[in-house]
Amino acid sequence: MTFDRSIKIAPSILSADFADFGREIRAIEDQGADWVHVDVMDGHFVPNLTFGPPAVKAFRPHVKTFMDVHLMIAPVDPYIDAYAEAGADMITAHVEASPHIHRTLQAIRATGKKAGVALNPGTPASAVETLLDLADMVLVMTVNPGFGGQKFIHNQVEKIKTIRNMIGDREIHIQIDGGVDPTTAPLVAAAGADVLVAGSAVFKGGSVDAPQIYGDNMLAIRAAAQSVA
Ligand code: DX5
Ligand code: ZN
Repeated sequence: MTFDRSIKIAPSILSADFADFGREIRAIEDQGADWVHVDVMDGHFVPNLTFGPPAVKAFRPHVKTFMDVHLMIAPVDPYIDAYAEAGADMITAHVEASPHIHRTLQAIRATGKKAGVALNPGTPASAVETLLDLADMVLVMTVNPGFGGQKFIHNQVEKIKTIRNMIGDREIHIQIDGGVDPTTAPLVAAAGADVLVAGSAVFKGGSVDAPQIYGDNMLAIRAAAQSVA
């Protein structure tokens, strides 16, 4: 089976109604989401606090597609098993969060889950060069992590191209996270990204009572990306 490098939309539930996650997750999936992106923040690695393993466990029964857990926490290793048991399909750790990121990725793979490695905007592409044998995905942050609704950092597009060349034919996804919308989606898709995380651009203007707006927003992002991919 060939590796699926087609454009995939992963809404970030950081922009969803926190009082209604179950229905929000089902709504975005019904409206065409390919993955569900879950931002885990610890108030230490990033200046915001979100979801512990119990919350992620509560989301799991509502996710029918693929639960993509983005760990913005330091340390990472003590929590890997808990997020794996909570039902994550992909667990992504930041290279900046773990002095032993090679061992961290090994530990994620040892749980049987997919392993992702993330780069903050200030971290060069070379930081993942020796990690590609252990990674199922490289996440290039296009905002400084911690909040939704921030402006896309354009000078990260070159980094995406560099990583796409580094990966070659290997079965590794390139995920982009932060400020993705119909205007920035073509830039990252043309550079080689296949998984597009979007929070504010998917949830804006919609609700569980008006989910078709989520669908329209995702369609606009997908169409813009596919026009160049
Ligand atoms: C930020 C998170 C992102 C964020 C994206 O630290 O990792 O996933 O929710 O939100 P938007 O798409 O609004 O920039
Ligand atoms: Zn994220």
